Amino acid sequence: MSKKIVFATHNEYKLKEVAEMLSPAFDVLGLNDIGCTEDIEETEDTLEGNAFLKAAYVFEKYNLNCFSDDTGLEVTALDGAPGVYSARYAGQGRDSNDNMDKLLANLKVKSDRSAQFRTVIALIINGERYQFDGIVKGHVAKDKRGTNGFGYDPIFVPEGNDKAFAELGNEVKNQISHRARATQKLIDFLSTHEI
Ligand code: IMP
Repeated sequence: MSKKIVFATHNEYKLKEVAEMLSPAFDVLGLNDIGCTEDIEETEDTLEGNAFLKAAYVFEKYNLNCFSDDTGLEVTALDGAPGVYSARYAGQGRDSNDNMDKLLANLKVKSDRSAQFRTVIALIINGERYQFDGIVKGHVAKDKRGTNGFGYDPIFVPEGNDKAFAELGNEVKNQISHRARATQKLIDFLSTHEI
């Protein structure tokens, strides 16, 4: 029989992707599947803080084993910004285009354009906490390119490439991305530990 685990997300796309990777050993449930319709507010100022906040909320309220993720784009010349604030860099109610415009403007006078995407996955199993990180290094392009993906994909060029994530497409991105790397660590852990 497969074991139940919750992925603390309302994003059905992310849920399906991870559920397929963990099937059949695990039955991965999203927040909607457990009747948790509210948004869990991300009030911490680090990626790990927010990831554990969401996993702990589910573990404590529903008494179910749970994992959660949080991702940020960390730009060296901006001391790691936008980082944990990546989704709302240009302010509440603004979109990805506004976020990218603000980042490009802030980098205009900087010579160092190096950056990394970092995903933190927080896992709580029977009250024990585990963390898995995934990083992809690269740089911020001078302008937007390509149409695939989401968020900062049109301006992030991963190391060893001259194309942005949005030009490379999902298949290539999913082999090297921050999220794929962190998720693989989670999957390796769950498949080798008795839970
Ligand atoms: P989340 O923690 O996965 O919701 O990501 C927070 C924010 O980081 C998103 O709203 C995007 O702006 C950005 N982000 C996360 N992952 C990616 C990615 O793979 N490509 C581009 N932007 C991303």
